[in-house]
Amino acid sequence: MKVKVSRKAHFNAAHRLFRADWSFEKNQEVFGKCNNPRFHGHNYDLIVSVTGEINQKTGYVMDMKVLKDLIKENIEETFDHKNLNLDVPDFKNLNPTAENIAVVIWNKLRPHIDDNKEIEVVLYETPRNFVTYSG
Ligand code: NI
Repeated sequence: MKVKVSRKAHFNAAHRLFRADWSFEKNQEVFGKCNNPRFHGHNYDLIVSVTGEINQKTGYVMDMKVLKDLIKENIEETFDHKNLNLDVPDFKNLNPTAENIAVVIWNKLRPHIDDNKEIEVVLYETPRNFVTYSG
């Protein structure tokens, strides 16, 4: 019997979507306002879910305090109030789209969670736009 448990988190970050090997005009055509050279910010909402068997001794799939601390240490402290393009090495050569941010978050968390559990990352860039990555 598998159960999915989820933890919500939040961070604010700035980014710019562009490719250095494209002209400004081409970037403007593809990325529009998100190509603003002075960057712009989002209030990102994050939901991390862990699916696995209930531990018969504790009754937990995963201790939520542990999940909370993993997200805080590995994601919030890395991304919150940062410029993703300039401050976070993962995006040095990777466009910080919601899609790519979700994959980076999943990759950062995966090594810290038991292999017998599945993890899913849902990242809201706006209240209406969100992406999901499960590996
Ligand atoms: Ni944006």
